[in-house]
This record gives sequence, C-alpha cells and structure tokens, in this order.
Amino acid sequence: MGLAENQLSFDLLESWLTQNPDAAAFKRNGDSIFRELALFQDYHGLPAFKDALVQFMSEIRGNKVSFDSNKLVLTAGATSANETLMFCLADPGDAFLLPTPYYPGFDRDLKWRTGVEIVPIQCVSSNGFRITESALEEAYKEAESRNLRVKGVLVTNPSNPLGTTLTKKELQLLLNFVSTKQIHLISDEIFSGTVFNSPKFVSVMEVLIKNNYMCLESDAGLFCWVDMGYLLSSNTFDGEMELWKKIVYEVGLNISPGSSCHCTEPGWFRACLANMSEDTLNIAIQRLKTFVDSRDNKVDIQNQQQYNKKKSFSKWVFRLSFNERQRER
Ligand SMILES: Cc1ncc(COP(=O)(O)O)c(C=O)c1O
Repeated sequence: MGLAENQLSFDLLESWLTQNPDAAAFKRNGDSIFRELALFQDYHGLPAFKDALVQFMSEIRGNKVSFDSNKLVLTAGATSANETLMFCLADPGDAFLLPTPYYPGFDRDLKWRTGVEIVPIQCVSSNGFRITESALEEAYKEAESRNLRVKGVLVTNPSNPLGTTLTKKELQLLLNFVSTKQIHLISDEIFSGTVFNSPKFVSVMEVLIKNNYMCLESDAGLFCWVDMGYLLSSNTFDGEMELWKKIVYEVGLNISPGSSCHCTEPGWFRACLANMSEDTLNIAIQRLKTFVDSRDNKVDIQNQQQYNKKKSFSKWVFRLSFNERQRER
C-alpha cells in the first residue's frame, strides 16, 4: 500500500488490446504503419493523439471546459511535464510553493536536476488541510527570508496524498494570490480521472474561465470598462499609453486609457458609446476585433489565463454590439 502505481484498470486495458490487436502491432486497418510512425513526428506529440486527448480531458472535467490541442505539449508522463515546467519557469535557487502534505516524488522531480527549491505552504488537520490565505502569505514570506525568488505555486488537484479535491474557494484564493504576486500557478490534475464524487471536482480551468471577464459587468451609463491588460507590452502605465497610441493611430479609435481616470491598475480602458450611431459602433467594433486578432500573432500569450482573456474579448465585442441593438429596438 505504499506505491501509487495504478493497476486498477489493467483488466480494461487488456480486454481493449485483445479486441484491437492493430494498435499494439502498429497497424491501421491491417496494414503496417510502423514506418510512418518511426519517422520524425511533431515534437509536441502526434496531432491525432492530441486531438483525442483534449476530448478526453474535457470529458473527465464534465465537459465544463475545453482545451486547444494546438496549445498542448505531450510528455512521457506527468513526472517529465513537472520537471520540464521547473526548467522553463525557474532558475536554480528560485522557489515554488507547495501545500503540505505533498507527493514525496516532488522532492526528486522538481528539485534534483533543476536546483529549484520547494517552500511548503503549511496546511493543517484542524481545517481538513485546506489552503488558507495566511498559509500562502507565510510561505511566501518564508521564501523571501531565505532569499529565494518565488516563481509559482504548484498544487495537485485531486491531491496526492490527501485524496481530496480543492474547493472553488481555494482555487479562487490561489488565482488571486498568484495574480497579485505575478507568479505562475501549476495545477497537476493527473488524478482528475479518478474522482468518485464527481460533482465536487473543479478544475482550475473552470475557475480561470469564469474569472476572465473582459468587461466589468455594467448596469448603467454609456460606458464599457474593458480590461486589455493582456495586450500590454509591459504591465505598466507606459505600456498602457503605448497600447492607447497604437489604437489611436492604427485602429483610428480613441478609447480612454484607465490612467486618465486615475485607475490604479494598468490595462483598463473606457469605451464610450455616447455619441455614435449603431453603424458607426459596428465599424468601431469590427476594427477593434481586427486589431486584437492581428495582435494574436504578435502578443506572446504566456499562459492559459491570458489566452482565455483574448477569447472572451470577442464575447465582449459581441455583448457590446448586441446590447446596443437591444437598446435601439
Ligand atoms: C501528483 C502526482 N504527479 C505526478 C506523478 C507522476 O506521474 P507519472 O507516473 O505520469 O510520471 C504522480 C505519481 O504518483 C503524482 O502522484
């Protein structure tokens, strides 16, 4: 009982392989595909396999979220994915915060070859080992006191060893924490297919998507308060002015930068609908959409959160034009 090596579905695998002998023999419809497979392949993984995998990943998350196979990179197991992420996101001497108790293999996978340190987020039995804000802050301070630069938080959901899932509240807390500290969040969801109390499992993807409003939900006025922070070249007010100028000169639209309204976070803009016809509004929206789509190739979309923000831009654009039509009717 000390080894988390999953043999529970071996019978299913064996019977599937018996019924589908082509798969193990490198055949398709009875013909060998060995040579096809033995040649160079897409280094991120076979596209057909990735397509099947994104469907499966969505299915085991109750089809509440979807994944883009173009943004998927396959590795030989979660161990190498976790180690590769450490190599990509941190330098030797940087730290990742991990809630305790954690999977003992992480001391090897995350630290040994990368030189990255793990700083524990101390979770305790009195609240069922839940992640709390104070535990997160304490771990962060602990890393700082050891002169370690914190690059992110890594959680397992469902948890090994707890055998529990993170609550929406915990996920929201984690997302707020990483966005305030401007650090990464890694969610190792390797056990997401083993949930037996399924309505309770919430993937971090679900919370991310819900969080990604592009436009503050308004109920009055002639304005839309829009977050375009993910398009900034730097998360500063200089970056905001740079984007504003681009929109003025390249798109031919003047939408007020948040700094002119004394907003304390760079990247927000006020789109004002006070003085234009529906036709003009539609043209403005179309131009903005073209601009955002063209930036798609230029902006380095660093994480899924940013990606989702971009996607919901179209939703915002739609809402704006839809609402306008409704009003005119
Ligand atoms: C949370 C967690 N991540 C990763 C792994 C390793 O996964 P793999 O066998 O796919 O490398 C394990 C194995 O038990 C695990 O518990």
